[in-house]
Amino acid sequence: MEFQRNTVKLHNKYFKPFISDKEIHKAVVAIAEKLNNDFASKTPILLGVLNGCFMFASDLVKELNISCEVSFVKLASYKGTQSTGEIKSLIGLNENLKGRDVIILEDIVDTGHTIDNLSAQLHALGVNSVTVVAFLFKPNAYRGSTIINYTGIEVGNEFLVGYGLDYDGLGRNLKDLYIIIDEV
Ligand code: IMP
Ligand code: MG
Repeated sequence: MEFQRNTVKLHNKYFKPFISDKEIHKAVVAIAEKLNNDFASKTPILLGVLNGCFMFASDLVKELNISCEVSFVKLASYKGTQSTGEIKSLIGLNENLKGRDVIILEDIVDTGHTIDNLSAQLHALGVNSVTVVAFLFKPNAYRGSTIINYTGIEVGNEFLVGYGLDYDGLGRNLKDLYIIIDEV
């Protein structure tokens, strides 16, 4: 990671500031207020999708005053031997989710492929309900069928880094969000 004035270079690409940590905080608090209200009489299990969600999940749960559990999962990608798409297996789940109200915490929902896959797997485990919280949402890229119940900030299709999001492994530790600078 290399800073030049206020741009940051990750691998071979440059990114410029996009959304400040102050704006991020406001959006996180707004989501938390809604969850505090909507889940006041429930004990949901918050399920963060690693790696990207770690900062958002941490910030969000600090603003929650409801009774809740917090856990994390990963979706491991296996490219099949044939070129027929991708199977994503759910790993790291230790809790029995049968009958539970599950709140998925995603850093970003883009095409919706990941969230559709995860939502289907959770329903198959016999959960009572699945609620989706996407801190960032790319509505113009979305092709999924899962309802995104709570969104922090809607963004365009440009590639972002920071606040947990990476470019090929780098940039997750940036506290602000950065947007890719077009090469001309
Ligand atoms: P989807 O399955 O297309 O919705 O994509 C979800 C995943 O793609 C996210 O969890 C991220 O890991 C990654 N992703 C999508 N857009 C971005 C971005 O702008 N920056 C970094 N990662 C992204
Ligand atoms: Mg992710």
